[in-house]
Amino acid sequence: MSDPAIRVILDVDTGVDDALAMALAVNHPRVDLEAVIAVAGNVSLDRTSRNSLKVLDWLGATSVPVYAGAVGPLSGVLREASYWHGQDGLGGACLPESSRGVEPDGIGYLCRRLMAAPGELTLVCTGPLTDLALALEREPRIVRRVREVVLMGGAARLPGNTTPVAEFNIYADPEAAARVFEQPWPITMVGLDVTERVRLQPSDLMPLAANDSAAAVLLREVCHFLFDVCGEDSLALHDPLALLVAVHPDLVVRRRHDVRVETRGACTLGMTIVDWRMDAPPPARHTRICTEVAAERARALFFTTLGLGS
Ligand code: BDR
Ligand code: CA
Repeated sequence: MSDPAIRVILDVDTGVDDALAMALAVNHPRVDLEAVIAVAGNVSLDRTSRNSLKVLDWLGATSVPVYAGAVGPLSGVLREASYWHGQDGLGGACLPESSRGVEPDGIGYLCRRLMAAPGELTLVCTGPLTDLALALEREPRIVRRVREVVLMGGAARLPGNTTPVAEFNIYADPEAAARVFEQPWPITMVGLDVTERVRLQPSDLMPLAANDSAAAVLLREVCHFLFDVCGEDSLALHDPLALLVAVHPDLVVRRRHDVRVETRGACTLGMTIVDWRMDAPPPARHTRICTEVAAERARALFFTTLGLGS
């Protein structure tokens, strides 16, 4: 018997790699993408919402709604990453604007859907965790209703990518992340420990130069800025890996532990802390932390899911 489909809500700050995670969700035969909620992160909420609509429409997923989430973090300043994703958040990708509108109140939508479908919905979060923290505040019972939260964020053993110790999604809203990791719900943390190991290179795009499928064009368009303008020699598939792990958990080794988030430190804001000591007090083990990844298999799944594999 084939594996059952997974009903997914994506919470994104689209974003180059968020766009690729969305493409996987749209194309994966076992993912039933119910909705996308946009949050401010890589760029402003207005842009992440419009980018999400643009990407879905380009991929033909015109019936998947996009809801507006939080306009900024629970506290602290708005931190963005347009230096990496380009001013528009999609590396200047030449894709048509969507004629659709963004639905209001993504937080309310999230609460309603989770309460209405206990144990059925997987949340894949690839941006700052603000929407999830606000949903928890509004409807704490969602903790027992979600099937799983799979999030791209943090670093359990590696350095950060935004500060010496912090990963971007957590650094952008440490208070929200702290609240999310405190909850006793099934969370899988797909952090830099594994995402940095699954990379795309300019040479991967060469065989696709003449491919005019929607996925191939999207891939070329969103990578152009980083590879051709900035001269980056590779791109970590952070957000796509989170989506793949939600569907194929056997891609990673997961260890159950608690994750705490630094919300005040002058030098350590946004750090994800795991007490790996052998003699540490027994953790509640709320979080499944990804520590190893079958990187080549993940890369192969990325291409085949997009219809670009051999
Ligand atoms: C994360 O930060 C964002 O810039 C990416 O989209 C990804 O979600 C990687 O640290
Ligand atoms: Ca992201």
